[in-house]
Amino acid sequence: MSLSLLSFAQWLDSQAWSIALHESFYMYPLIESTHVLTLMLFVGTLIAVDLRLLGVAFRNVPVSEMTGRMLPWTVAGFVVMVITGALLFYAIPVRTYQSLWFRIKLVLLVAAGINIWVMHRRILTNRSAWDDSPRPPRSARISAAVSLATWAGVIVTGRFIAYNWFDCDRPQPDWVIFLAGCVVDDV
Ligand code: HEM
Repeated sequence: MSLSLLSFAQWLDSQAWSIALHESFYMYPLIESTHVLTLMLFVGTLIAVDLRLLGVAFRNVPVSEMTGRMLPWTVAGFVVMVITGALLFYAIPVRTYQSLWFRIKLVLLVAAGINIWVMHRRILTNRSAWDDSPRPPRSARISAAVSLATWAGVIVTGRFIAYNWFDCDRPQPDWVIFLAGCVVDDV
């Protein structure tokens, strides 16, 4: 499985558009800046809703009002993050695929996604019972805390992708070689 994903990344790497994007003078920095700038919209609106669900801010604003006004912007920001992120991956597929930080980031993205599903499908379904309460129920506060922690992890691991501490082209301990999926030539 990991070898076929690696060969897929290598195939992407050989594509003219991937090479052009990677070697572009303006395009790559523009896409990366958009990836970073959109954090303000995506994570900024997400934090506002999570602070309300934690009961630490906007306590006199009904939860439904917060989610109703903020979530469309959060979703718009998320779509731009995923599109720009996929383009950043497409530009440097092999190094990114074998990046420990990128792999941790993907795991955190899945965890954040599961938490969003639980929030919307399990916790917010009986919101009418506590919509005006300054201190939402424990399940909502826990889910909001998990949301803040996982997205903080996505941001930090995203930032660390640029650093080559655990790159496969440097001597690495076995656990890094295993987790990053480095291919070690048998000498
Ligand atoms: C949706 C939530 C996401 C958030 C909050 C996020 C956040 C970040 C952050 C903060 C950085 C560091 C940017 C910098 O300082 O240079 C970053 C880099 C990166 N992200 Fe994302 N990201 C998200 C989704 C994605 C997705 C879905 C992908 C790919 C499938 C992706 C691929 C990348 C890559 C490849 C980099 C490294 C760029 C570089 O250092 O050259 N991101 N991300």
